Amino acid sequence: MKIQTVPTQAFDGQRPGTSGLRRKVAVFRQPHYLENFVQALFDTLPDREGKTLVLGGDGRFHNREAILVILRMAAANGIGRVLVGRGGLLSTPAASAVIRQRGAYGGIILSASHNPGGPEGDFGIKYNIGNGGPAPEMLTEAIHARTRTLTSYSIAARPAVLDLDHLGPTTFCEMAVEVIDPVADYAELMQRLFDFDAMRAWFADGHRICFDAMSAVGGPYARTLLEEMLGASAGSVINGIPLEDFGGHHPDPNPAHAGALIATMAAPHAPDFGAASDGDADRNMIVGRNFVVTPSDSLAVLAANATLVPGYRDGLAGIARSMPTSCAADAVARELGIPCYETPTGWKFFGNLLDAGLATLCGEESYGTGSNHVREKDGLWAVLFWLNLQAATGLSVEALVRRHWARFGRHYYSRHDWEAIPASVAEALMAALRERLDGLAGRDFGDGLRLEQADDFAYLDPVDHSESRHQGVRLLFAGGARIIFRLSGTGTEGATLRVYLERYEPDPARHDLPAQAVLAPLIAIADELAAIRERTGMDAPTVVT
Ligand code: G1P
Ligand code: ZN
Repeated sequence: MKIQTVPTQAFDGQRPGTSGLRRKVAVFRQPHYLENFVQALFDTLPDREGKTLVLGGDGRFHNREAILVILRMAAANGIGRVLVGRGGLLSTPAASAVIRQRGAYGGIILSASHNPGGPEGDFGIKYNIGNGGPAPEMLTEAIHARTRTLTSYSIAARPAVLDLDHLGPTTFCEMAVEVIDPVADYAELMQRLFDFDAMRAWFADGHRICFDAMSAVGGPYARTLLEEMLGASAGSVINGIPLEDFGGHHPDPNPAHAGALIATMAAPHAPDFGAASDGDADRNMIVGRNFVVTPSDSLAVLAANATLVPGYRDGLAGIARSMPTSCAADAVARELGIPCYETPTGWKFFGNLLDAGLATLCGEESYGTGSNHVREKDGLWAVLFWLNLQAATGLSVEALVRRHWARFGRHYYSRHDWEAIPASVAEALMAALRERLDGLAGRDFGDGLRLEQADDFAYLDPVDHSESRHQGVRLLFAGGARIIFRLSGTGTEGATLRVYLERYEPDPARHDLPAQAVLAPLIAIADELAAIRERTGMDAPTVVT
């Protein structure tokens, strides 16, 4: 094999964010941009020689080209073997499952998750370690540091084409490559966790579902599991073919971007169950007939009913949620007598808790739910969990959620996103807010909203004792109301301010109110304290979920 050493110059700003390095496609297509990052990654894996890596992506524009570049660089950097999903496809949770099941050293996932794709859209790359989970901050920081000092990268000279579309082992640049079925390992894992017979019977009884794969990588997984294996009627999976530009849509499963599914579920004769997953199929949205489930509630309902599902029959060791996620899961944990961990935003913070056996289920308000079966959030897993619960109880989605609220109280919840703010404006807003925190506690805002605590969230990892500071401004009120402010770490255009609003309501007679109305006093306080409208010049958030 002929290895080329290509001189290069460091790029600014190759620091991975909440979930890998995410940039516009045009940025990634600049000469050497992807190569620099990949070389920096390999350089921070000193014992990579001869190791097995997993490689695949969500199929977005530029996926195949990037896969070939990475394979040539893997060969030149001494990697022993690469398992690539057929067609270059692997959903994020499936990549995690393959890494774990095949004992791989790690994996490279090409995805910008729910961000739009296509030549004008976004691209991304992230590295997962041997436990199947996102690289911890220590590693992503080391990769970033290396990107700044890089002067050359190694790549195998352009070889004969590789056939990514046929399964089986082959060699490429003298390195072993195996093209694997992207669905098989994952489907096998799901069968070990869920009661497939009960779900088959539920479908055989005539229940109908609609799963919107949003023209992203989740389609092949959903078709295999839901239609072929469980017997959902043909056509239950819509937008099931992965497209490079996701059909021009934002592949993000929330009421704002999956409007067609919400409309289907609100129509007369709606299916019994609706769901959607995102670009790389790690997110999920759960919808009942004319009833949208918030992700925070979804986590709590799954936790409260987990023992009905074979994979969790023995109960949960603990639950973990990201800090902005509602406290609905905490209420369940209290009743079950298990711990509930509060982590910073981003799935990587769950890895240690799962590895150490401290938590079994985890979730984020951003349509992410998962468990210790992999080390990523998992969209289809959540869908199967909900189907299993419906099959086991005979209850609808709405009935399951209402029963849950009656028992634990309802945590009204909403997230307001203010997108594409100039970065300097957003940073000044957060800085001013942090300045105001001292002395704020104790203030009574009326309407039962007395501020008990105002701080900037810091997390001390109970396993490796690493500390992560400045993870979001928290305003905690008496009675369980909360307002959280933080800036997004995944965007590619300006800054996005996320404002998370939550209010607890124990009284079942008040469980049917419109969430925005219940949260209105908190929305007003958030705007007053952070001067959002004044500083951004915007009148309203761009996305409300
Ligand atoms: C967003 C979500 C976060 C999630 C991440 C990756 O990050 O808020 O919960 O883990 O995407 O899917 P953010 O843009 O807020 O940094
Ligand atoms: Zn995603």
